[in-house]
Amino acid sequence: MRWMSFRWLSNTLLSVQNPALANRVVLFRGVGFGTTHRSMDRNREEQLIAKEINVKFKPEVNQVQEILVTNSFGGWEKCWEQGLTPWDLGQPTPALLHLHHTGSLPKGRTLVPGCGSGHDVVAIACPERYVVGLDVSDKAIKKAEELSSLSPNANCFTFLRADFFSWHPSELFDLIFDYTFFCAIEPEMRSRWAMQIQNLLKPDGELITLMFPIDDHIGGPPYKVSVSDYEEVLCPLGFKAVFVADNELAIKARKGREKLGRWKRSSIQSSM
Ligand SMILES: C[S@@+](CC[C@H](N)C(=O)[O-])C[C@H]1O[C@@H](n2cnc3c(N)ncnc32)[C@H](O)[C@@H]1O
Repeated sequence: MRWMSFRWLSNTLLSVQNPALANRVVLFRGVGFGTTHRSMDRNREEQLIAKEINVKFKPEVNQVQEILVTNSFGGWEKCWEQGLTPWDLGQPTPALLHLHHTGSLPKGRTLVPGCGSGHDVVAIACPERYVVGLDVSDKAIKKAEELSSLSPNANCFTFLRADFFSWHPSELFDLIFDYTFFCAIEPEMRSRWAMQIQNLLKPDGELITLMFPIDDHIGGPPYKVSVSDYEEVLCPLGFKAVFVADNELAIKARKGREKLGRWKRSSIQSSM
């Protein structure tokens, strides 16, 4: 991931999240706070800003953002070293488990890019589905390996430290599951994400995206996403959404902000 491109971001969190808002603060400060009327304006302005900037995530998300902004390279590693992993559910993703348990998850070689501590990898690995969990962070991979070392299905999965964008596996995948990876990368990397998905997936393979966070927050990571953000980069490569629906099984804190998307290449979508 090109962390260098974070450099355009300024040092303050506010301007990171929205330069326009930062300007408004500067402008506002220039007015001065001399009268009650102005103080009331200021309160209203501050309330508005507080509403507009990201208030939907745990406070640790701000710390993650700061680390990623100030560490062009190795930002994710630092987050893992410092135990700053507010995205980690500490359990498999319920929607993915549901697909697995109801037999609606494709079998075969499966990739989970940006797998973090690997709960999803272990949860869906079985003799018919060999799962590779990939993460750029050494610490994440070590944690995933430690957590899963006693799993009875240990021969059905593996963890690998590699950069998703430059990784060249020897075998392609039948299934790729992306949850909180697309939203973690910089938006300008999304077309490279789609190209790499295409490179890694067998022609008749399936991409499953749990799209989050679908909202209107500013800044990131996590960057806000929409179904059309995925379509914009996937459709030109021949992918089509064969299924999109609200994720009813989202954890409480993410309810209403997740959609499940299933993507196949257009030429074979009629077989779904
Ligand atoms: C927001 S976390 C999500 C982790 C996991 N999917 C989860 O839901 O718990 C994003 C993960 O992507 C990893 N990551 C970031 N850039 C990556 C890259 N270029 N290649 C592989 N992994 C990457 C980070 O180390 C981090 O573990």
